[in-house]
Amino acid sequence: MDRGIISQTLGGKRVLLIIGGGIAAYKCLDLIRRLRERGASVRPIMTRAAQEFVTPLSVGALAADHVFTDLFSREDEQDVGHIRLSREADLIVVAPATADLMAKMAHGLADDLASAVLLATTAPVLVAPAMNPLMWNHPATRRNRATLAKDDIRFVGPNSGEMAESGEAGAGRMAEPLEIVAAIEAFFKPAHRPLVGKTIVVTSGPTVEPIDPVRYIANRSSGKQGHAIAAALARLGATVRLVSGPVSIPDPEGVSVVHVETAREMKQAVEKHLPADAAVMVAAVADWRVESEWGQKLKKQPGGGAPTLRMVENPDILAGVGHHAERPRLVVGFAAETQDLLANARKKLEKKGADWIVANDVSHEGGVMGGDRNHVRIVSKSGVEEWPEMTKEEVAARLAEKIAEALGE
Ligand SMILES: Cc1cc2nc3c(=O)[nH]c(=O)nc-3n(C[C@H](O)[C@H](O)[C@H](O)COP(=O)(O)O)c2cc1C
Repeated sequence: MDRGIISQTLGGKRVLLIIGGGIAAYKCLDLIRRLRERGASVRPIMTRAAQEFVTPLSVGALAADHVFTDLFSREDEQDVGHIRLSREADLIVVAPATADLMAKMAHGLADDLASAVLLATTAPVLVAPAMNPLMWNHPATRRNRATLAKDDIRFVGPNSGEMAESGEAGAGRMAEPLEIVAAIEAFFKPAHRPLVGKTIVVTSGPTVEPIDPVRYIANRSSGKQGHAIAAALARLGATVRLVSGPVSIPDPEGVSVVHVETAREMKQAVEKHLPADAAVMVAAVADWRVESEWGQKLKKQPGGGAPTLRMVENPDILAGVGHHAERPRLVVGFAAETQDLLANARKKLEKKGADWIVANDVSHEGGVMGGDRNHVRIVSKSGVEEWPEMTKEEVAARLAEKIAEALGE
């Protein structure tokens, strides 16, 4: 690879790399190279076990620095002791983080150079665990992981897949060097939070409309797209109020969630959150509900035939927000269509008083409802923007950026 074209995303950053004794230690050689070509300096510490897997000679040659191995080395202690080592780092990276090293960190043990440095530091620490799936899933390791997370230790990986040991597979593979580099770059990147100070209401999931106490009418919406959008907006700094129908996915991080069931409850919850800077109405709201819910479970009557359900129209939440006295500056609706996608989206734009309609094809072939990918077009007064098919997370991230741009104008 031409080194000239790699941007210096880590220019001047001092990474103290602690290498633990696992098979994945060999990946550290590549990690060191990748970090250095991005401008970071890498100072390596190796545990005694790590030296069984890779030699200090190759680590030192790639890092172009002395490799520190001993807590009681006279030379090293006079030159740079463990306290200085821990202070002279912008970030400490532990890769591979063995089960043993994680246990020591969680319990504050300090019987070798690596663990003493980790205990003596105030620098941020990123660990890349690598171990057999049985070790990773052991209750002791689980406890240690939880303790470390509470102590603000950051994690990258592990991934799932084949282990070096033949025939073993599962979670525990160390993240690849470039994934670790990306986590380090993300750590150093100044936070991009253009939506700080903005409040955004998002709806997600289906609504369910009761027929009787045990039956209801619903749809296939999983909430994945709406929840991903709420999370992406929160990551950009927005205060997000998510109004969600019943879904089986967890509440997104950093978002306050109101759980509702019916379209009427959703409308009420949304309007309670106005005024807001923007509203992103992703939920698949039922157009109709049963006119009057049966108070008791409907029972089969011998020779009684099937009941007739009389349906009435539900309130239109998007149109309600689009024409509201406290209308947000930006109103975004979703149009789940199975035919005439663009024509229907354009009609919806006007009728609902929305600024953008995100149109997606939810026909059976589209496979969007419940799936992980989405192919959307953003319809606005100024035209149609077609985005390539991507994951729902990618759609969410891109839409959040577009919303930030629009609210920043
Ligand atoms: C061949 C071999 C491979 C090993 N791989 C791992 C590993 O991937 N992850 C791990 O946590 N321990 C692994 N171990 C066990 C550690 O080397 C052992 O727990 C050691 O004490 C860790 O020391 P350290 O944490 O100071 O580096 C392995 C041991 C052997 C012999």
